[in-house]
Amino acid sequence: LPRTAEVRDNHLFIGGVDMVKLAREEGTALYVFDEADLRWRMETYREAFRSRYENSDVIYASKAFLNKEVVRIANEEGLCLDVSGGGELACAQMAGFPMEHVFVHGNNKTPAELREAISAGVGRIVVDSRIELARVSEIAGELGVEQAIYMRITPGVEADTHEYIRTGCEDSKFGFTMLDDFAFKCVKDAIEAPNVKLVGFHCHIGSQIFALHSFREAAQVMIEFIARVQKEYGIEIPELDLGGGLGVAYLATDKPSSIDDFAECTTRAVKDFCAEYGVAEPRILVEPGRSLVANAGVTLYTVGILKTLPGIRKYVAIDGGMSDNIRTALYRADYEPVIANKAGEPRTEIVTLCGKHCESGDAVVIDMPIQHPEIGDIACVFTTGAYCSTMSSNYNGQPKPAVVFVKDGVARVVTRRETYADLYARDI
Ligand code: LLP
Repeated sequence: LPRTAEVRDNHLFIGGVDMVKLAREEGTALYVFDEADLRWRMETYREAFRSRYENSDVIYASKAFLNKEVVRIANEEGLCLDVSGGGELACAQMAGFPMEHVFVHGNNKTPAELREAISAGVGRIVVDSRIELARVSEIAGELGVEQAIYMRITPGVEADTHEYIRTGCEDSKFGFTMLDDFAFKCVKDAIEAPNVKLVGFHCHIGSQIFALHSFREAAQVMIEFIARVQKEYGIEIPELDLGGGLGVAYLATDKPSSIDDFAECTTRAVKDFCAEYGVAEPRILVEPGRSLVANAGVTLYTVGILKTLPGIRKYVAIDGGMSDNIRTALYRADYEPVIANKAGEPRTEIVTLCGKHCESGDAVVIDMPIQHPEIGDIACVFTTGAYCSTMSSNYNGQPKPAVVFVKDGVARVVTRRETYADLYARDI
């Protein structure tokens, strides 16, 4: 739940704002973010790392949720920014984010995207392959600059999460594989390549991870790798980016690790393994996405149709669905819903909140308890702050929802709802 969620007069309030009134004023489907929750998590992350390990930074992985306002807030809260393509970079530029704090990711950044990033003056490009290394070197040369780079290494750590979002194991399209010592050999190419400066390594083992030991294992592999590089190639590797991936609770029964425990585990691992392998403690970075924004966000819908299939299930159709939240259809994700105008009442029925799209798998919440639903109710689905708006689509000509930030009793529209004109503005 967002930190400021509360029930007043049977209505759900977030940030001191009545969700029922907000839904009726702004229309639904509607993404709502608790700004205090968002800022609290950003601050908590930064503090959790800084207090344990001075030379550290937190990078917000903007793929989780992106608009100009969240970029401005991340900057105000002292975070760096991870962008994974030209479109995310453009948002950061438009929002005035300092380019030296931008980290560019992606396994197939196009030459045009690399050129945009390098000429914008981004802080680090996380090089994902040998071919890309040559491209970055060439483009930086053409632009007459020396670009600081990391190499993304695939540490071969199996994180305990959904296979679609597991990225650090050996069979991965991301990064330089350690198989056949390939990554190690490529480090030499990176050191010798003109117009680039290798300043660090990066790894990311996956997302929605609950068990912290995977992060410790990844840190060990990376620091052992740094030790070997420093010894055999005789260069300093001053930075280590350990990626994102900390899980969040979608259900009350989910028990993810806290930000503090994650910080304790990773900083401890770095200190331990630096001591063990005789490596100077590097600047460390982490790049969380989900664990910064997921809990802060909710989605509001209006209930339009009710259908009971005897002996099967009850369908409650909402005015959104897989277009604003594809995670249920894609990963069979779980969410907790509430009827915002009956928030103080017990959840007495098991229902499926299905969407309005022409696809049977279109549901946001499957077989979960909720208050007695009626036409016109405002349904609220919790924990939709991450990977919902950024993975949204216009399927069936559905305009994308507005985004509202709430705080201290005030609601601000930070992204307006898409119009029908927006939908077809690009057609010739
Ligand atoms: N760094 C890199 C290089 C990443 O690829 C990702 C996520 C992150 C950081 C942030 O990871 P997080 O802290 O959010 O777990 N669409 C999926 C999640 C895909 C994650 C992709 N990479 C979902 O909805 O569950």
